[in-house]
Amino acid sequence: MLGTAGLLLATAACGSPGEEDPAAGQSAEEPTSPVTLTWQAAPFGNRADDARVWLVEEFEAEHPNIDIEVISAPTNVDTNRASLATQIMGGASTPDIYNGDVAWAAQLADNGLALPVDRYLPEDYFDGFDPAVVEGATFEDQVFGIPLTLDQSFLYYRKDLLEKHGLPVPGTWQEVAEQARTLQDAGEVAEGITWQGASYEGLTAVTNEFVASAGGSLVNEDLSEGLIDSPEATEAVEFMRGLVADGTSPRGVPTYQEPQSLQTFTNGDAAFMRNWAYAYATAENEETSGIAGKVGVTSMPAFGDGDTNAASVGGWNVYVNPHTEQLGASLTFLKWLTSAETQTDLAKRSSTIPTLDAVREAADVQALSPVIVASAGNDLVARPTASPYYPQISQSIYGQVNGILAGTTETGAGLEAARNGIRSALEGRSL
Ligand code: GLC
Repeated sequence: MLGTAGLLLATAACGSPGEEDPAAGQSAEEPTSPVTLTWQAAPFGNRADDARVWLVEEFEAEHPNIDIEVISAPTNVDTNRASLATQIMGGASTPDIYNGDVAWAAQLADNGLALPVDRYLPEDYFDGFDPAVVEGATFEDQVFGIPLTLDQSFLYYRKDLLEKHGLPVPGTWQEVAEQARTLQDAGEVAEGITWQGASYEGLTAVTNEFVASAGGSLVNEDLSEGLIDSPEATEAVEFMRGLVADGTSPRGVPTYQEPQSLQTFTNGDAAFMRNWAYAYATAENEETSGIAGKVGVTSMPAFGDGDTNAASVGGWNVYVNPHTEQLGASLTFLKWLTSAETQTDLAKRSSTIPTLDAVREAADVQALSPVIVASAGNDLVARPTASPYYPQISQSIYGQVNGILAGTTETGAGLEAARNGIRSALEGRSL
């Protein structure tokens, strides 16, 4: 099972985190006899064309010794993370590799749930990748995930309806709300704008960008204090609450994650949608959408007179389970998955945004991917994911903001509670 001729043999580790090298003694080279590799991944990319299926087919055809078994993960990022953490903490060697949110990197690293993968890759391996994305996957000077997609949010709109009513593509949230109500009043759509307001990670991403556009931030720069109850953040969250309360957004938004908001839009029930890059390919595909051919995408709106078009940065890395017994096969697949060729195919078929600069900038990729063109107008704003306590910080935010959206918590009290929750999280006192 273990190759012996590998040039890159895992060596005893130095430095923290992870005092010793969990993969010590394993070859990092492609195996020379048949092996099975397990890859845990939630559905990603174009929903009409499951990327996991065609990626595995293409890889296996090129690498007949490696058989890949896909383990389907939940689409809810929090459930996905919690189940992986439990499994890996328990010492399981399955899955060998897994797709994980960029928002998890620090926590995975700090808890020994991902292999510091840069130890087994050539020194210049990350040179062509977007530096911010590599930084996001780095914790205490080691890289813990290979960046697969660089996500960000966009404003999707019904091109046909804006044209019919002589409306320009809106540039601010206030214009979005106004146009949404015009189209609702005209009987074109039941819902104005659909987005993700459920009590989960996605709501923190949404709150992050609303607050940043309004001139605030969730946490201060050195990650020592929550700022979620500032006047700017309060105004932003009040605006979000208002969208639900006055019916501009569906009543169900406080329970919506990505799939529900996307479905409302692709069913033709909403004029606008806030969603990530993959939504473009899905909304423009006739098999998955009733509005294919009618979808426009633009950068995120500014807030009032502000000039920040804040879009939360997201994306997915591929991480290696520190208990894998298939280091060589894992690295072979990871390198293939994040290669320029595969990233080009993914961008064209799935409207994902490549993490390799050259692929993202290539004319043939841009020609087929309006999201990459629209991203030029986005001001990217990171969530405070550099903290290993980020999941707890985020939970304090989305839990309270969800209560505010649902009308069970008053805005001021909710944001104060969120700030207190962030303090406990930053002190490492909450789990
Ligand atoms: C998308 C983003 C990811 C984010 C998640 C929230 O998958 O790529 O970074 O955390 O949505 O639901």
